[in-house]
Amino acid sequence: MLRSDRVWTLLRAASRAARELRDDAPRAFALAEDGRLVETGGTDAQLAWRPDTGWTPCADGVEDPRLALYLPLCGARPGRRLTIGHLGQSLDGFVATAAGESRSVNGEENIVHLHRLRALCDAVVVGAATVAADDPRLTTRLVDGPNPLRVVLDPRRRLAPGHRLFSDGKAPTLVICDAARAAADNRVGQAELAGVPLRGGLLDPAAVLELLHRRGCHAVFVEGGGFTVSAFLAAGLLDRLHVTVAPLVIGAGRPGLRLAPAARLGDALRAPHRIFRLGNDVLFDFDLGGGAACGEAPGIARVL
Ligand SMILES: NC(=O)c1ccc[n+]([C@@H]2O[C@H](COP(=O)([O-])OP(=O)(O)OC[C@H]3O[C@@H](n4cnc5c(N)ncnc54)[C@H](OP(=O)(O)O)[C@@H]3O)[C@@H](O)[C@H]2O)c1
Repeated sequence: MLRSDRVWTLLRAASRAARELRDDAPRAFALAEDGRLVETGGTDAQLAWRPDTGWTPCADGVEDPRLALYLPLCGARPGRRLTIGHLGQSLDGFVATAAGESRSVNGEENIVHLHRLRALCDAVVVGAATVAADDPRLTTRLVDGPNPLRVVLDPRRRLAPGHRLFSDGKAPTLVICDAARAAADNRVGQAELAGVPLRGGLLDPAAVLELLHRRGCHAVFVEGGGFTVSAFLAAGLLDRLHVTVAPLVIGAGRPGLRLAPAARLGDALRAPHRIFRLGNDVLFDFDLGGGAACGEAPGIARVL
């Protein structure tokens, strides 16, 4: 029986182990006392690994809804990449007020959720407007886990080097701009600068992902804001999308998802999804990658 306080340790171990598996054989693992996964052929197995579908829980006592929610994010490795987007929004679809205030749209539980996503991914991506409005740190502070590479999409290089993530030295940071504005020896504060080509006036999201994959980032978390997540969604590059809906109405503000309008409801984007509770908020977990949903959520399960 897996203790509740070991679930996060198991998830982190699964995320690390997926990157280290060297062959394509199915395997079964149990969590050792030291927090590593050890291979087992016995009835003590807690997780099964299949190269095509990733991780699944495989024993009694591992039905915790956190496994259902986070295990699909723990199987990234070379050749099995994962891109996840998240937005937290009001009932009426806004991620921030018109002035850019967004910290308390969702409850504290969703902040912990964001830190879990950062810890499980190799890179976290935000748009320039989020850095301008929030001056975020984008580090993993509320849960045990590593800091991801911090990536800012700033095509016009409008952000000043004084922002915290360019100067705090807490984690490596990469600014991606229009290739025509990049120069090899340029930096933004302590952050590295790289260019990718524009396509249709936008930084090509596929080129952004290719750049990150070349740097060994197999799991990429697109954290916001609405413009940035929408660009990856519109390009068909998100494998999963988390939208956390909070029970408040802002009335107007910075919008969440924005796609080209569907002429008919039959053309609207619909995808297999599961629903979880985060405090008073409701999290929709959309599976956009056509992969197997990893474990059904039992009803509307509370993960935090
Ligand atoms: N609730 C949440 O989940 C959440 C999460 C994050 C942020 N936020 C809030 O959201 C607000 C910002 O969201 P937003 O939608 O206005 O902006 P955003 O997505 O943070 O940033 C958009 C800007 O980033 C640059 N950018 C991003 N992707 C690009 C691409 N593929 N190609 C070219 N440029 C790209 C562009 O900069 P240029 O304008 O220079 O061209 C674009 O205008 C803030 O108030 C923040 O507090 C909320």
